[in-house]
Amino acid sequence: MILIVDFGVQYSHLIARKVREANVYCEIIPYTYSIDEIKAKNPKGIILCGGLLKDINNLEVPVFDAQIEPDTETVNNFLYNECGASKDWKLEDYCQDTINRIKAQVGDKKAICALSGGVDSSVAALLVNKAIGSNLICVFVDHGLMRKDEGDEVEKVFKQQFNMNLIRVNAGERFLGKLAGVTDPETKRKIVGNEFIRVFEEEKQRLKDKFGHIDFLVQGTIYPDVIESGTATAAIVKSHHNVGGLPEDVDFELVEPLRQLFKDEVRKVGRHLGLPDIIVERQPFPGPGLAVRCLGEVTEEKLKILREADFIFRDEIKKANLQNKIWQYFAILPNIRSVGVINDKRTYTHTIALRAIHSSDGMTSDWVRIPYEVLEKVSARIVNELDSVNRVVYDITTKPPATIEWE
Ligand code: XMP
Repeated sequence: MILIVDFGVQYSHLIARKVREANVYCEIIPYTYSIDEIKAKNPKGIILCGGLLKDINNLEVPVFDAQIEPDTETVNNFLYNECGASKDWKLEDYCQDTINRIKAQVGDKKAICALSGGVDSSVAALLVNKAIGSNLICVFVDHGLMRKDEGDEVEKVFKQQFNMNLIRVNAGERFLGKLAGVTDPETKRKIVGNEFIRVFEEEKQRLKDKFGHIDFLVQGTIYPDVIESGTATAAIVKSHHNVGGLPEDVDFELVEPLRQLFKDEVRKVGRHLGLPDIIVERQPFPGPGLAVRCLGEVTEEKLKILREADFIFRDEIKKANLQNKIWQYFAILPNIRSVGVINDKRTYTHTIALRAIHSSDGMTSDWVRIPYEVLEKVSARIVNELDSVNRVVYDITTKPPATIEWE
């Protein structure tokens, strides 16, 4: 194991990537760790990123002082020649180790997991399921703000394919009720977030009444989340993204099987465990779901139009084989009606906006130059197949100044 000590520079995680790609295991820690804490981790080598640690040489392990990002050859030389590291870290072994560790941690007690169908919570749940079987109870709160067929897909994968203990709470009407008449974006986000927590808490209480105490909560925390909250220079851009997350709960001990993995490693683990592409390849999806893509008041009628338009967009992107080349793509219902004409008759119906972006972390983004022919097909299908839409526009704004989502 190689320790990477982060002094708040951008390239710590890039070095971590290079180490993992060299099949050597590594962890990033903030520079605030004491020499004793570092020693307790028993590293074979230490890489200092952007700073120096007093007394580090007392540890008698090789130290690399990275003032700038080193190239792969330099990193490999340090790992193999100076530290004597062997190239034996494999994700498959990591899976099995993690499963064993969870078995030891949870034993025959029960664990609960809020499964959203996103990559992280899905892979986390599956790993824990491999370790403790039906002692893991997954709660899937369907807030009715998912994309077309998504709720059913999630249920099918986990219940039928993996035979997992999954409870689907169909709370769509409840969420829509709370959202009725609300148009302010932040208020909408808060309502969905709070209601999500309330539904989960109710379900948790029901399960406690049924099974007695539940000791563990599974969370899909991944490595970048740990780095961001663990280092002195933590990025704060994500603070509003806790919507759809759960508050800290002292009742539970946490099980976090993905804590050491990067996003693409999480995907590899998912594939290794047999998760289908619809889950493994899933693009980022906001916790408040379609509520933030259906501008103004959220109604079932508007959601229905948005879902269909979004489905057509995704379908055409897939047909054009672009689905893995675009970071995120979706439709928005901007709550605008405009005048159109069809069969000599005037129409006054909805506009659909399309957004497709490239990004590496969601913090900045550029819009995707989707071929005109693809956009043409999407537009034609949306206005032909949906009576209530007569206009389609494409969002060509970078982030900043625009955000990726419209609300
Ligand atoms: P913005 O709109 O802030 O989005 O540019 C950046 C990325 O974050 C996603 N997003 C969310 N993810 N809960 C999440 O888990 C949320 O509440 C949320 N809001 C936005 C967004 O889809 C984009 O990928």
